[in-house]
Amino acid sequence: MPRGPAFRLVLIALSALGLLLFFGCTPDHPQSTFDVAGPVADKQRTLFYIIFWAAVFVFVVVEGILLYTVIRYRRRPAEEGIPPQTHGNTRLEIGWTIAPAVVLAVIAVPTIIYIFDISSEAGPDALTVNVTGHQWWWEFEYPELNVVTANEMHLPVDRQIRVNLRSEDVIHSFWIPKLAGKQDVVPNNLNVMQFTAAKDDIDSFPIVLYGQCAEFCGVAHAHMRFRVVVHDSTENTFEDWVAAYRQPHVPPSGDAAEGATIFAARGCLLCHWVEGPTPVEIREGLSEAFLRGEPRFPAPNLNKFGTRATFVAGYMDLNRENLISWLEDPESIKPGNRMSELATVYTDPESELSRDEVEKLASYLLSLE
Ligand code: CUA
Repeated sequence: MPRGPAFRLVLIALSALGLLLFFGCTPDHPQSTFDVAGPVADKQRTLFYIIFWAAVFVFVVVEGILLYTVIRYRRRPAEEGIPPQTHGNTRLEIGWTIAPAVVLAVIAVPTIIYIFDISSEAGPDALTVNVTGHQWWWEFEYPELNVVTANEMHLPVDRQIRVNLRSEDVIHSFWIPKLAGKQDVVPNNLNVMQFTAAKDDIDSFPIVLYGQCAEFCGVAHAHMRFRVVVHDSTENTFEDWVAAYRQPHVPPSGDAAEGATIFAARGCLLCHWVEGPTPVEIREGLSEAFLRGEPRFPAPNLNKFGTRATFVAGYMDLNRENLISWLEDPESIKPGNRMSELATVYTDPESELSRDEVEKLASYLLSLE
């Protein structure tokens, strides 16, 4: 079958249509940056549009002139030999020196203004959240509120957030696409960022945003996700969450109480803190042990675990069935995770958890409300 210019045109048109349809879908995606939830992401999206349309303008003008020239000055059947040769054209030279400078100015001015704006320090009323990246999960500490949690960050709406980023091990990257761009999380170095979840940008509450590690950080990098819950300012407020989070757990009973005993007896407490915020000494002790190369790892704080929507660093929905699958064989769900590497219940076949123990552990963990 002959594949002439018409065939190629159809192919290009179809690809363009497909691409357009593809882009048309993205605002609904939980990680799309086209549907923003705050001013920082909004400015980043605006910059994207400015640069995108500037690039489209350049493309159309350059390709337009190119096509015009190729068609207008093509060799015609009657023409023989080399066409008349010219050298230099002052007006053209001035034109194509000024035009790119104007395009660059159109891109540079808003970019510089927004970069200074976005990277400005958080104000005095901002809420501080200390975020620590671990292989492979996230710790969120609210130093003013005495709350420590893992893999689910809760935020008040319309209040600026100051995020202090630290890493316990390798370089990670903190990214909540709908709130702000990526920021590296580097060991022995404090990086800060600020953003706000804005009520005007959010349709309904409580909204759950997706976050994830955006820097390859080892085998379970793709499983290093988290959720951001933005609370309404009138009902189900951030203060309600903090107050509930700080309440001690109701003492477990029945299966859950047996699960609590198993949790302590089988060594889970060596790495996981359950009651309230993980004390600083414990966190530092675990980190130091880790840095000395001892098989002690800071593991997610499990306070109020039963109230969370997800677990396994935002990878699985939290429900009994998923929790049992995880406890039975974490390696099959999140290859490389520290728990299956270190906990004797997974490393020593003789210490394996029985199905009954797994059921009771699940009851206990889900009872942590
Ligand atoms: Cu942490 Cu990728």
